[in-house]
Amino acid sequence: MQKYSLIWWIIVAVFLMAPLHPANADPGAIEQGRDLVVQNCSSCHAIGKTDSNAHPDAVAFRDLSKQYPVEQLEEALAEGILSGHPDMPVREFEAEQVGQIIAYLKSIQIE
Ligand code: HEC
Repeated sequence: MQKYSLIWWIIVAVFLMAPLHPANADPGAIEQGRDLVVQNCSSCHAIGKTDSNAHPDAVAFRDLSKQYPVEQLEEALAEGILSGHPDMPVREFEAEQVGQIIAYLKSIQIE
């Protein structure tokens, strides 16, 4: 009986510590970022790992880091200057939302 309860506590401890593991960094932010790009960007951009662009000229988000590190979009998102292209609405995001969008974009990049 005692042996089992020790194993049980080890399993519980491993689950509780999972969010501290670097590979799982802030899964909540990634999830929020995904919601934001679904709402604001997916009508034109491919936002996942295998979907295709709804707008013929838009880039697939998973390919962004082929051009530049996705962190470089931080300022553009915060200041609403992501408007170098026609058809794309200008929108400013809160600092927290910018972090969430960047976290999501990082999570889907194909190196
Ligand atoms: C109405 C359609 C539309 C929506 C919505 C849209 N985009 Fe775009 N986006 C485009 C098009 C079209 C291009 C390519 C235009 C070009 O390169 O001239 C583009 C290009 C981009 C680029 C590449 C810019 C560059 O110069 O490297 C980024 C990054 C980007 N969009 C991010 C976003 C993000 C983030 C969102 C959501 C917050 C978003 N877009 C929403 C149409 C859209």
